[in-house]
Amino acid sequence: MNMKTAYVHGYLPREARRLYDQADTLAPLLHAGTAYPAGSWVLEVGCGVGAQTVYLARNSPRARIVAVDHSEESLAQARAYLREQEPDADVTWRTADLLHLPFKEAEFDHIFACFVLEHLWEPGKALATLRRLLRPGGTLTVIEGDHGSAVFHPDSPHAHEVIGHQVRLQAAAGGNALLGRELQPLLSGAGFGNVVIRPRTVYADRTRPALVDGFTRNTFIAMVEAVRDDALGIGLTTAADWDRGITDLRRAAEDDGTFHYTFFKAVAVNPMS
Ligand SMILES: C[S@@+](CC[C@H](N)C(=O)[O-])C[C@H]1O[C@@H](n2cnc3c(N)ncnc32)[C@H](O)[C@@H]1O
Repeated sequence: MNMKTAYVHGYLPREARRLYDQADTLAPLLHAGTAYPAGSWVLEVGCGVGAQTVYLARNSPRARIVAVDHSEESLAQARAYLREQEPDADVTWRTADLLHLPFKEAEFDHIFACFVLEHLWEPGKALATLRRLLRPGGTLTVIEGDHGSAVFHPDSPHAHEVIGHQVRLQAAAGGNALLGRELQPLLSGAGFGNVVIRPRTVYADRTRPALVDGFTRNTFIAMVEAVRDDALGIGLTTAADWDRGITDLRRAAEDDGTFHYTFFKAVAVNPMS
């Protein structure tokens, strides 16, 4: 893994599956309150395989969505997915780096970014760049997780250790898996006004089997498990310690286990002057 440039989650098919599972499981929680007026121009940055785009299109059926990612392969999957799921959606796809977007100042009414800032070296700079693309009075919606919010039963230092390895690998690749807690100062520092942060908590136990499967297993544990080879490859841990931590973490998805995680959803406004 090239630690300077690698994207911690990678682009394998299992990651695309994880992004779809994550979006489908969390849509009622994360997309509640996000709907854009007919005719408005909405930019989605870091759209990936279109897992969130489909909900943007569904909840704002007459908005004009422009979805951007720097991975052409992900965009091809996103295009096919939307064609299948929301064939009437008004979505234009663009391959671009979000720090060098090919758009004019004030071109958009709204911008949406989900699980993207956490992968950037300079999220504050990215936010300032995005703000210039918003018309005065336009809104930015950002959703990020924070792995420090993972609280589970049975508790285990070995399980926390493997989560810590994911956090360390993401940091080594220039990202920050603990970004959720920083959204308020980041957005204010980038010049946004009316910054409102709404924590959105997921709690799963045996009484909520869809969340145990869709979130605890297929989203969170799957994400941590996927960095095994990288963690071993750079000597962060041994195979035995890794396997012990993952085994303990999986206990949180068993019948007597529980799992809690908090996402942070921010909505902010580009000031009028
Ligand atoms: C964790 S995925 C999230 C995808 C999607 N937003 C979702 O929630 O399913 C992060 C996405 O951001 C994209 N990305 C990361 N850095 C980027 C950059 N500098 N410019 C454009 N896209 C970027 C990655 O290619 C990836 O598709």
